[in-house]
Amino acid sequence: MAQLAARANVAPDSGFPVTLHPHFNPKIKDHIPPEPPHKERTPAPDRGLFANPDKKSLLSIPGIKVVPLTESIGTVLENVQLSALTPQQLDELALLVNERGVVFFRSQDLTTEGQVKLFEHYGELDRHPSQKDTRHHVIRGSTIDHREILAYTPWPSGDFHADTSFEINPPSYSMLRMEEHPPVGGDTAWVSSYGLYDTLSDAMKNFLSGLHAVHTSRLQYDTILDLWQVPPNRAPIDTHHPAVRTHPVTGLRALNVNPGFVTGFAELKKYEGDKILDFLNYHIHSADDHYVRFKWEVGSVALWDNRAVVHRVIPGSYETPRRGIRTTVFGEKPYFDPKSEGRLERQKRLKAEKENEDKAKGVNGTNGNGVSH
Ligand SMILES: [Fe+2]
Repeated sequence: MAQLAARANVAPDSGFPVTLHPHFNPKIKDHIPPEPPHKERTPAPDRGLFANPDKKSLLSIPGIKVVPLTESIGTVLENVQLSALTPQQLDELALLVNERGVVFFRSQDLTTEGQVKLFEHYGELDRHPSQKDTRHHVIRGSTIDHREILAYTPWPSGDFHADTSFEINPPSYSMLRMEEHPPVGGDTAWVSSYGLYDTLSDAMKNFLSGLHAVHTSRLQYDTILDLWQVPPNRAPIDTHHPAVRTHPVTGLRALNVNPGFVTGFAELKKYEGDKILDFLNYHIHSADDHYVRFKWEVGSVALWDNRAVVHRVIPGSYETPRRGIRTTVFGEKPYFDPKSEGRLERQKRLKAEKENEDKAKGVNGTNGNGVSH
């Protein structure tokens, strides 16, 4: 905290630090990123597309227990070791993650090497702009209370986000495996982006479906140089992605706006976009019925789909180290298919179709049973 140039200047009248734009900071101004930006890629078809829809292979593991944590999001799989899953079971797990947004495991024997290998099944390994190891990212929790830091950094680092959503090909899947964790604090929360879309009014759904959100890494770039003192590998990037995206496996619409990286909308004036972002931040932070919170232990693993959820660490202070290993893979360039539907819309359509079918069967059945004879 003391090293933050963003809070270095103290206002003479108040004695409190003044937040300056970090480009006043030579640490930021003088850094030349060593690597070129990522180029657009066309990843191999998502592994969720190869899954058996009834997930027979995964769900027939002896002793497996499937525990949905909420109606909308989050499932715990008990009595399963990720290290023992077959390629077919990994595909079915991908589909479960596509549907439930995030899947949790406890007491895993997975190693970093094993996690990297497992993740290579899901695609080409991505690399966070500040990631030094080429295959995995070490997430270090600091014992500094981020609620204070956030008053001075331009990047809302503790807020809801989809991992590196500013990339041209943002990660599809992320896995975080905890190697060290304090007994209290450091929980992570996820919110369903399907649910965030579903709970908008029809007018707002239509409006947002025609917009592109500006996802940027600029604020993160400045902040990690100043605060983390880690030189980013790549220059900052701004990308326009559909504000509502279609999931390539489930075909469902999901809100693709997050307060961590989105700063505006390509089609709106700045002050219009600011108000829409204010509303969406409120929408995300008040979505209790589409929210799940997980308390970590050493050996816990979360596997989530950045196209279907946003997440954040619940801010707080803790006294012992928090260290996790994260792996991600490149996903498709986000797209919006106007023919796709929301999750709730689909549930309603399927229910209506079933009722009509039953009705038709009932009528036929009645006739067949000879009532008219
Ligand atoms: Fe994250």
